Amino acid sequence: MSKATEYVDTLPENIGWQPDSWQSRQAQQQATYPDAAALQATLAELSSLPPLVTSWEILSLKKQIAEAQAGNRFFLQGGDCAESFAECNSEVITNRLKVLLQMSLALTHGLQKPVVRVGRFAGQYAKPRSSDVETRAGLTLPSYRGDLVNSVEFTPEARQPDPRRLIQGHACSSMTMNFVRALVDGGFADLHHPEYWNLSWVEHSPLADEFQRLADSLGRAVNFMETISGRRAGSLKRVDFYTSHEALHLHYEQALTRTVPRQQGWFNLTTHFPWIGMRTADVDGAHVEYFRGIRNPIGIKVGPGADATHLRRLLETLNPESEAGRMVLIHRMGASHIETTLPPLIRAAQDSDSPVLWVCDPMHGNTETTTSGIKTRRFRNIMSEMEMAIELHHQHGSQLGGAHLELTGEDVTECTGGARNLGEADLKRAYKSIVDPRLNYEQALELAMLIVSKFEKLD
Ligand code: PEP
Ligand code: CO
Repeated sequence: MSKATEYVDTLPENIGWQPDSWQSRQAQQQATYPDAAALQATLAELSSLPPLVTSWEILSLKKQIAEAQAGNRFFLQGGDCAESFAECNSEVITNRLKVLLQMSLALTHGLQKPVVRVGRFAGQYAKPRSSDVETRAGLTLPSYRGDLVNSVEFTPEARQPDPRRLIQGHACSSMTMNFVRALVDGGFADLHHPEYWNLSWVEHSPLADEFQRLADSLGRAVNFMETISGRRAGSLKRVDFYTSHEALHLHYEQALTRTVPRQQGWFNLTTHFPWIGMRTADVDGAHVEYFRGIRNPIGIKVGPGADATHLRRLLETLNPESEAGRMVLIHRMGASHIETTLPPLIRAAQDSDSPVLWVCDPMHGNTETTTSGIKTRRFRNIMSEMEMAIELHHQHGSQLGGAHLELTGEDVTECTGGARNLGEADLKRAYKSIVDPRLNYEQALELAMLIVSKFEKLD
């Protein structure tokens, strides 16, 4: 392929773009606030608060994504479907970081390439919904749209969108970010000590031995490198972690869209890696207009309804300069659709000038509801979509470069199957998600190992 994969800092043309130019387009999935003046006052306050990330971190992630586009890194993005303010606490944050670290260790070891680690955290507080309202026992209220907008309890007060939540969302994101940075800088992610990342509830896991062997083998490799170089490998003490969220609430995103000294252009400083959800990916819509002008690397969810023309227009609009490191396409087809829906999109991306990183989200196309009304996903279908994605890219001269997962470090039972073969009856035991069902620690680690073994089997 002749596409540029080397990262070169380029400025998008941004013709006619302003941080608020999205407001002249149709914006799907936005909250309706009862008091417009209160919203404006809060947005003014938000605009004066410090940003959550920096432009140089954003550009260093872009460089890593360019390396992943060239096949030299694997991209791992994971975390809650929806973070909640109530779970902005040390245990939840640490456990989630532990799973992501363990998965990235399994992937680095198995794929023999560095992993780009991106959390779905420090801002994943806004959710798209299939309906604007929800009805229970004859009472109709606004749908829950994430903690950034309203509260999940089913009362008229809780479901009323409240702009003060934007300030709380910014605060919780910043507390999460601060704690993650402190953990990483303090040696929590030190490759010499993978035992720091063990979660107590998995000591008896069916996967514990396999993971231990892997961690031991990596420990030996680290020692070997240090022995022959005669130096302690300092860079292994700290790993990079980036943040991401669905940039759905455009007023919130706009308030944190800034210019910075010694850089050209505009950055979204709420997060390193914002993405556009499937329901808001209309090329002529407000979200695509907003994303067009920011310099961050960006993700777009592509579902089974997306065709080659849609993809081509998205790439032309969002990456007119064909910049490396800019575009991440996250496909979420469902295990039963991927074989027919993915190949035309792979070809469309190959025909475009834009380099892309292909990432598989095997969660959102495989959601189902049990006969007792619980939203779940079968591990078998998740795994099967992931394996087919790896295979299909390979067959079509492309490469799957990453995984996008909903997971948690808590001992939850939200998806069925996996090493412990959770059944439907187990779902009642520890179902905590407020929106979509997540992989628990064991299922997440098992998936990382299965990704490695699928890549090993490719010819
Ligand atoms: C999500 O990632 O939580 C989500 C809503 O995904 P999608 O836009 O792919 O449906
Ligand atoms: Co979700």
